[in-house]
Amino acid sequence: MSDQPVPAESTERVPRKRPDQTGGPGSSQPAEPRPHDPTDAAAPIPPAEDGTERAPNPAEPPGPTELAPPRGTGDILPPESWRRQAATRLAMDSFAIAGYAPIETPIFEHTEVFERGVGAGSEVVGKEMYTFPDRGGRSLTLRPELTAPVMRAVLGHNLHRARLPVKLAYAGPMFRQERPQKGRYRQFSQVGIEAIGSMSPAIDAEVIEVGDRYLREAGVEPTLLLNSIGHLDPGCRTGYLEHLTEYLVANQSSLAPVDIERISLNPLRTFDSKESRTIEVMRRAPLITDHLCDDCRSHFEAVQSHLMKLEVSYTLDPHLVRGLDYYTRTAFEFTAGGLGSQNAVGGGGRYDGLAESLGGQHLPGIGFALGLDRILLSGFGSKDQSGPVAAYVVAIGTAAVEQALAIATRLRAAGIGADLDFLDRSVKGQMKDAARSGCRWAVIVGDEEIARNNVTLKDLSTGEQETVAFAELVSRLEP
Ligand code: HAM
Repeated sequence: MSDQPVPAESTERVPRKRPDQTGGPGSSQPAEPRPHDPTDAAAPIPPAEDGTERAPNPAEPPGPTELAPPRGTGDILPPESWRRQAATRLAMDSFAIAGYAPIETPIFEHTEVFERGVGAGSEVVGKEMYTFPDRGGRSLTLRPELTAPVMRAVLGHNLHRARLPVKLAYAGPMFRQERPQKGRYRQFSQVGIEAIGSMSPAIDAEVIEVGDRYLREAGVEPTLLLNSIGHLDPGCRTGYLEHLTEYLVANQSSLAPVDIERISLNPLRTFDSKESRTIEVMRRAPLITDHLCDDCRSHFEAVQSHLMKLEVSYTLDPHLVRGLDYYTRTAFEFTAGGLGSQNAVGGGGRYDGLAESLGGQHLPGIGFALGLDRILLSGFGSKDQSGPVAAYVVAIGTAAVEQALAIATRLRAAGIGADLDFLDRSVKGQMKDAARSGCRWAVIVGDEEIARNNVTLKDLSTGEQETVAFAELVSRLEP
């Protein structure tokens, strides 16, 4: 969200950020709820004790229309929107050169795609989804992630019968009802890739390298944490979970109360606890990497050997478990400094059982998603990035307006970004507006210029001025 003041002359209506509306994408401030002031008609309705927001009371007369977006969301305004668009484009280009083709799936899905795909035991599905019935009574969910929908689309369109692996890339908004804070929003954007149909450890390394390279190109210095969480088999993760459960039960009295219920629900998640008591207990917990079956172990060793060959540095983290239930074998996370507690800029892993959970055939896969909001927070690009408009055509007198619009149109047709005044400003006002627009050039046209078939060209960065013939304007402005 931009903190730029709205220019006094602007006729645009920009919803302004109120103090309670921090924490949306683009905001750099934590979203702490402020006390509800019932006399303030526009004040937010405080969340109920269970953390959910209360619905407005239909018996109360409607107040003024709420101009601020819902908590945990934000309007992405220029110039921030240019930076965001550049980061997305860089990602999709960087994924494309490794063979990952763009895919778009719906913003909402049948709820079972996530219940069966991501797993009802995961926090995302159990506590954070925006789920609602449609008018026909079917349960729909705003997508909290894209791996399960991409697999659904692959299976539904039989993409795996055409060419394997199916390599896909995506960018777009996701929705999770989490407690908003810096770097954590209820609508946030991810960019990511999925490689579906190969068990080869080489593709694990390719996927990780593609993510690592993009983050570096985007100016993030990521730390890569790597682990293998095996597969569901008594000789592998299933056996390990029994050891872990025994250990947790034996140490139950030392665990933080919130983590005790995880023992039966999802014991692996105790590794993710933020509670110092639990963290202390987990230091001595049995590790999955000591209980991997031979196949998973040699797969993990091969992934590491590929990464070393590619010179992708990583840190082994046997406590890394990831929060979605579909993961098997390789699990990884990219973290970055300067982001506070939400320091995971991305994560991913293998999901060799996901296709079967969705009712399809065995179709292994691996991928990652990166949080675009966090990439921007960690300093992608220039904060005052502007758009592609390079020239502002200034009309001297109303008679020149027609010519000014024709010049702007001609420049645009030649691929040069051009803009002009539509508020009948004076020449001084137009020059001010040109400077504010961030354009490099002012192309000035009046009766004299029209008569001589030329324009006055002013370089706004140096103040230098020259006369340029109409016929030469495009070639003069070409970068
Ligand atoms: P995830 O770890 O849940 O994985 O999310 C990936 C990234 O999305 C996180 O590391 C973080 O940067 C960003 N993110 C998640 N939640 C939020 C939020 N509330 N606000 C801002 N950013 C957020 C997945 O989503 C998997 N689908 C990744 C994957 C792809 N695994 C295999 N293929």
